[in-house]
Amino acid sequence: MSRSRATDVSTVKKPVNSDQQGKIAGLAVVVMAAGLGKRMCSKQAKVLHPVAGQALVLYSVGLGLRVAGDRIAVVVGHQADLVRQVIAHATGGPNGGAPVTIVEQREQLGTGHAVLQSRPVFGVGKRGAPSRYLILNGDTPLLQEKTLRELLRVHETERATVTILTAVLTDASGYGRVVRANSAERGVSRIVEDRDADAEEQAIREVNVGTYVVDGEFLFSALEKLDPSNAQGEYYLTEIIHLAVAQGHRVAAVVLDNPDEGLGVNTRRQLADAEQVVRHQIRERWLDAGVTMIDPASVWIDATVTVGKDTVLYPNVTLEGTTVIGEDCVLRSSTRLKDCTIGNGVEILDHCVCADSHIEDGAHVGPFVHLRPGVVVRKKAKVGNFVEMKKTDLGEGSKANHLSYLGDAQIGKGVNIGAGTITCNYDGVRKSQTVIGDGVFLGSDTQLIAPVTVGAGAIIAAGTTVTEDVPADALAIGRVPQVNRQGWAARRRALQAGANRETLNVKRETKPAHHTEKQPQASKGGQVKKHSRG
Ligand code: UD1
Ligand code: CA
Repeated sequence: MSRSRATDVSTVKKPVNSDQQGKIAGLAVVVMAAGLGKRMCSKQAKVLHPVAGQALVLYSVGLGLRVAGDRIAVVVGHQADLVRQVIAHATGGPNGGAPVTIVEQREQLGTGHAVLQSRPVFGVGKRGAPSRYLILNGDTPLLQEKTLRELLRVHETERATVTILTAVLTDASGYGRVVRANSAERGVSRIVEDRDADAEEQAIREVNVGTYVVDGEFLFSALEKLDPSNAQGEYYLTEIIHLAVAQGHRVAAVVLDNPDEGLGVNTRRQLADAEQVVRHQIRERWLDAGVTMIDPASVWIDATVTVGKDTVLYPNVTLEGTTVIGEDCVLRSSTRLKDCTIGNGVEILDHCVCADSHIEDGAHVGPFVHLRPGVVVRKKAKVGNFVEMKKTDLGEGSKANHLSYLGDAQIGKGVNIGAGTITCNYDGVRKSQTVIGDGVFLGSDTQLIAPVTVGAGAIIAAGTTVTEDVPADALAIGRVPQVNRQGWAARRRALQAGANRETLNVKRETKPAHHTEKQPQASKGGQVKKHSRG
């Protein structure tokens, strides 16, 4: 990014006072997130719409936490409770206490009014009140931390009262335009909103990004002077620039090198644009960290996911939520993992859907596996080919390789789950547990009517419906004894053939004697053939 010419005059270079974690002393952050976002045409508050799986507002909150620590207030309004919950969930420390203060703006009277609501949080006018405020829109997910630090640095070195972030766009429509003075310095004189701009102002391509550093002493006194006589009848935060200039204060500006970083999400199109950019950045981050992607553009990784070194992601893999993947894993095509923990050296074949489950080192899953919440696949266990699991712990080295449903089950080590095994865990009212000991062998097509326990080392014969507990090392067999009737099938075929002949004869005899015209015949496929006249 570059400083605007207007601010280059300064020679003072004083580093901003940062602590170990890079938190800047005396700084407070205000995130504005109360608006509905009419242009989204949505029932959901704009700041809750996700980008790379993370609500828009959390991008600004995350930046705020990194630069200012716990001195951060988020102004909420539309769907305040939901926004509050999303922020608390994402930022809650080990004690569940979010280091973020939520302030409610009951009526959305504009961005200036929004910031004013945060005044009680910071003990303004008292000792220890913040010396500077970093104010962020809640809808700018592409903003980078280093840009904010540069903005803060320029604010210090320029001894400015207000410092704004700007971008020069080809299409500036919708944004507030930065009006500069005609003087040689071309200092910022005010910001004019798109809807209030005249033709000349609309032609300006330098826009306000919605990121400001403002001196503590100035901010709240200026906010009280705002006047809502504008096209939207709102208290515009941007008016403070004009007020600062009028009072002879210094206003500095930092121009983004990459204007895309300033993207404000007002519409679904802009949301989609932001999604593309963030997804691309996330992929590059993991590629740089040693993850292989066969076709990066088709891989979807949420902002909150972690992937280990030397893991290979095939096309169309989707990694969502809090998923953590270890090293040396292979995830084949079209697999989707949400909130899963995957160990090292795990292989997940094509078309698996897994949620809220743990897969331990060296395990093998897929193809076509559905792991619903609460599954643990222990070390070197195998789950494959159309197996569905839910709240089930599959022990170390155990195998469930074909066509099974395993729900509410505790399965020991080295167990073989035969093809077609079903845990009958639900009686229409209650869910019940199935417990299977170490080394059990379940033959194919076993049904386990829960609650039921199969002791270690037991064998269940194929086709058994297990209704009673099975002792350790026992054989359980529960099926109708087989009877072989010699020649029965051949006799049946012969009888059948005779019966068919008789039926045909009866039909022929009942045909009327005068009936000579050929009737349409049934073809092989059972369709009626039209008589052709050739
Ligand atoms: C705002 C700026 C504009 C800038 C643009 C950059 C103002 C007046 N205009 O316009 O100069 O170019 O951002 O993206 O500030 N909000 C509240 N309470 C309110 C109104 C808004 O909390 O009463 C929040 C919104 O939830 C949003 C942010 O403030 O996160 C910005 O509001 P929005 O309506 O998107 O402002 P823009 O029209 O984009
Ligand atoms: Ca906006």
